[in-house]
Parts: sequence; C-alpha cells; structure tokens
Amino acid sequence: MLKSADADPAILEGKRIVVAGYGNQGCPQALNLRESGFDVKVAARSGGDGWKQAQDDGFEVGGAVELARAADVLLMLLPDEVHGTVFRDEIAPNLPRGAALCFAHGFSVAFGEIETADHDLLLVAPKGQGTRLREAYSRGSGLPCLLAVEQDVSGNARGVALAVAWGLGCLRVGAFETTFREEAVSDLFGEQAVLCGGVPALIKCAFDVLIEKGFSPEVAYFECFHELKIIVDLFEQYGFSGMRDMISGTAAYGSMRFGEGIISEETKRSMEELFERIESGEFARSWLAEARAGATELHEMIERERDLPIERAGELIRKLFPKERKDRNRPIGGAKQ
Ligand SMILES: NC(=O)c1ccc[n+]([C@@H]2O[C@H](COP(=O)([O-])OP(=O)(O)OC[C@H]3O[C@@H](n4cnc5c(N)ncnc54)[C@H](OP(=O)(O)O)[C@@H]3O)[C@@H](O)[C@H]2O)c1
Repeated sequence: MLKSADADPAILEGKRIVVAGYGNQGCPQALNLRESGFDVKVAARSGGDGWKQAQDDGFEVGGAVELARAADVLLMLLPDEVHGTVFRDEIAPNLPRGAALCFAHGFSVAFGEIETADHDLLLVAPKGQGTRLREAYSRGSGLPCLLAVEQDVSGNARGVALAVAWGLGCLRVGAFETTFREEAVSDLFGEQAVLCGGVPALIKCAFDVLIEKGFSPEVAYFECFHELKIIVDLFEQYGFSGMRDMISGTAAYGSMRFGEGIISEETKRSMEELFERIESGEFARSWLAEARAGATELHEMIERERDLPIERAGELIRKLFPKERKDRNRPIGGAKQ
C-alpha cells in the first residue's frame, strides 16, 4: 500500500492541472487539489451547470480546447460515455505531447475508447463518491484509491499519479496499485453483480415474496429494505463474522443455516456470465451504443422501476427518516433530461 510518504508533491510544482468536468468527481477533486496547493483550472461546457458552479467556487473556467493547450495534467472527469468523443474532438488535438491524462475509472482506456501514443495514461480512482471524497478531505482524512499507470511518455507518470493521489487526500489513507483493466472490469462487475444490480434485485425479490404472501408493503419494506443499512454498517465495520456476533442467535442461526442457500450454483453461473460480458468488452460496446442513441431504453427501465410497489412503500417510510440529500442528480448519457 502506498502512503503520503511515497509521493513527492513537488513534482507538480509550477504545473498546470486542468479538471475536465465539474460534476460528482470533478468538483470535489478540483477543490481538494486546489486546497493541497496545486494550480487548478476547470474545463466545462459553456452555459452548463458545471461552468457556473466552478466559477462560483472561484476557479478560472474555460473550454476544453483552450485549456488543454496549456495543461500538464488533465483529469478526465466527464461521464465515461462521452470520453471518446470529447477526447478525439477537443483534447487530443490540443493537449501537449508528454502531458498526463488522469482518469477516475479505467473504462475508456481499458475498452479502447481512448487511445493515444503521446500522453501519460494514469488512473487515480477514489473508492467512493465525490461527496465522500470531499467530506473526508475536509476533516483531514481521505478515501483510499486505486492507482495505475498504463503508459509513461513523460518518464514521470507514476510520480505524477502519486502526486495527484496525494493532492486528493487519498494517500492519507492509502493507495493500492492495479491496472486500468483490473480496475475497470472489477468495478463494473462489483456494481452489476452486487452494489447497484444484485443487491437491489435481491431486495425486490424478497419484498415481492412477502407481498405475494399477503404482507403489507410497509412491513415488507422495513424487513427487506430499511434494515439493510443497519446490517451493512455492521459488516462493513466488523466483517460478516463480527456482524453475526452482534445479531440475535435466532438471526444468526436462520441466516447461516438457510439464508445463505438462496444463492445457488445457478446464481454463480449468472455472475460468471456477467463477468464474461464485461471482460470481453461486450458490455462496454452495448452501453456506449445505448448512450449514443440517447439512453432511451435505460431511461425507460429507470422510469418503470419508479412505479414499483417497493418504491411507493419506500417513499412513505423514507419520509419518517428525512436526510439532507448531498449527492448530485445527473443526467445519464451526457444529455439533459
Ligand atoms: N460518480 C461517482 O461516484 C464516481 C466514482 C468514481 C469514479 N467515477 C468516474 O469519474 C468520472 C466522472 O464521473 P462523474 O460521475 O463525476 O460524472 P458526472 O457527474 O456525470 O459529470 C458531469 C460533468 O460532465 C460534464 N458533461 C456531461 N456531458 C458532457 C459532454 N457531452 N461534453 C462535455 N461535458 C459534459 C457536465 O457538464 P454540465 O455541468 O455542463 O452538464 C459536468 O461538468 C467517470 O470516469 C466516472 O466513472 C465516478
């Protein structure tokens, strides 16, 4: 694991950092890097929310074409689905040879959307959303990150990646070295199989079983959805066995003896299929085609989900536990909705 002592921030002294995109990652990364003492400018779309927000936050803001010309390090913090077009049309013809392109996700390099022989290709991928990155930095801590160098044209690529990770606050916790491909495949697999795909599907299925057996939506929601965070917090902090030490004997026996069995060999085969679709590049091709067609199918699927009984029950229950929403909504596919 790499820590602050492994970085030499002086490598970025006098260097011009351009953050392209001022959204979930761009805004917090730009703020953290500036507070760490680096010279940061923001490249944004003229007339867009990001442009105005970055100006309000005191950054010099310009178009990608103009700012790329004078960049030593350009952080690609635009949605993955627009990386290829923006890079080919605006950045590649203007970014000086030997400058570094730094990514927060390996997707576009790993799946061939961005190819260049002239620039360092770096990955500094904080493990968490931008709001968490900023909060952690502001209280003197950080989020861990994954770090990789795909291409070293300048001869300094690893040093630059470490200095960026230092400036983001990630090295206060630690960086783990990986490759673009390993980060991209595992990140997509984790979000599809577990985080944003598998877990919601499991919850919806369990909720439906209780509804079909005649239980009320509110009761089903509490048992299959609401309490999840309490348990996740336990196993995030203490591991699965630590979590089982803290729940009732009834819950521990039932979950170990019977609950684990709901994941079958068939589920594992489905996960292997997911993996193969990602690893072969089929998923990336299908997502990019969907995004370029306006992401209408994706938006339809998201809208259909909004109407599910579990979402209606959730609306009612969540009102009992109001939380300040800090995470930004954003249009998917780079298009305004
Ligand atoms: N979201 C996360 O939690 C997270 C976590 C780790 C890594 N990442 C990675 O971080 C990178 C950025 O993701 P993000 O979620 O921060 O993106 P995002 O919030 O969706 O980015 C929005 C920014 O991109 C600009 N933008 C959108 N479409 C554009 C286009 N066609 N041309 C030019 N600018 C465009 C927006 O401009 P306007 O303001 O003008 O609309 C805005 O400044 C991605 O590689 C992602 O995989 C994200």
